[in-house]
Amino acid sequence: MSADATPAVRLSGLRLDRGGRTILHDVSLEVPRGSITAVLGPSGSGKSTLLAALTGELPPAAGSVEVFGQRVPRRSRELLELRKSIGVLLQGNGLLTDLTVAENVALPLRTHTRLADPLVRRIVDFKLNAVGLRAAANAYPRELSGGMARRVALARALALDPPLMIYDEPLTGLDPIASGVIMSLIQRLNDTLGLTSIIVTHHVHETLPVTDQAVVIANGGLVFTGTPSELEATTDPLVRQFLRGEPDGPIAFDNTTFNSGTFRAEAA
Ligand SMILES: Nc1ncnc2c1ncn2[C@@H]1O[C@H](COP(=O)(O)OP(=O)(O)OP(=O)(O)O)[C@@H](O)[C@H]1O
Ligand SMILES: [Mg+2]
Repeated sequence: MSADATPAVRLSGLRLDRGGRTILHDVSLEVPRGSITAVLGPSGSGKSTLLAALTGELPPAAGSVEVFGQRVPRRSRELLELRKSIGVLLQGNGLLTDLTVAENVALPLRTHTRLADPLVRRIVDFKLNAVGLRAAANAYPRELSGGMARRVALARALALDPPLMIYDEPLTGLDPIASGVIMSLIQRLNDTLGLTSIIVTHHVHETLPVTDQAVVIANGGLVFTGTPSELEATTDPLVRQFLRGEPDGPIAFDNTTFNSGTFRAEAA
């Protein structure tokens, strides 16, 4: 098999534990290079936990995680190297408020490379241009709208040219127009820069149109893997319950946190 046929991410029989509890088990998944995969599922189902396994933040309790054909290392030095190839956009943006937009985007370059200043400035300019915010280079985060701040965080995640991008809830707190801008930007960047993208979200309807593969996590495991149209056509009651946002059905209410009968009796 040629190197390029290796999937960007391969999870095999993965089990992830947190706080002595199994959050996900028997997760097997391949994310093809160049594709966009949406990881969907109710709150608390383990979506962010799955991302933590990709970045090596959470080592597997069983099974394996491979990124570009390499097992995610446990040793911190090798892990640091791997993390340079993964761009992460976190829910809270994580912009530093006393730095300008340009300085925020330059941060990963200053931390992880020894590039000379003029080159750093050119790369920053290029990244800001890619998210349509070149004019905002000297603004401070407080001067930006929510959608603009998310785009700056996106430019920063792209600073080191990572071949794999991970988005955790990229639409949280954004109005429908800003959400549309972010989703089309994610798609355009994926295609023009030849990236592989994984989008974790519960915004099903905004996300599905740009995805190649959709997976649904519920009740401690993957309950669906397929194309968006297969997802929309599925008759699986568990997946249908999630897609329709129904409180009653095979997905237990906040199943992983409050699975004791007492709580549910009280909640009823
Ligand atoms: N650091 C931690 N220690 C112990 N348990 C944790 C930790 N982080 C998350 N959990 C638990 O793991 C489960 C999955 O959490 P996770 O954050 O992965 O869910 P999620 O699908 O991302 O939810 P959301 O949609 O709300 O972001 C939850 O029950 C949560 O309480
Ligand atoms: Mg989460």
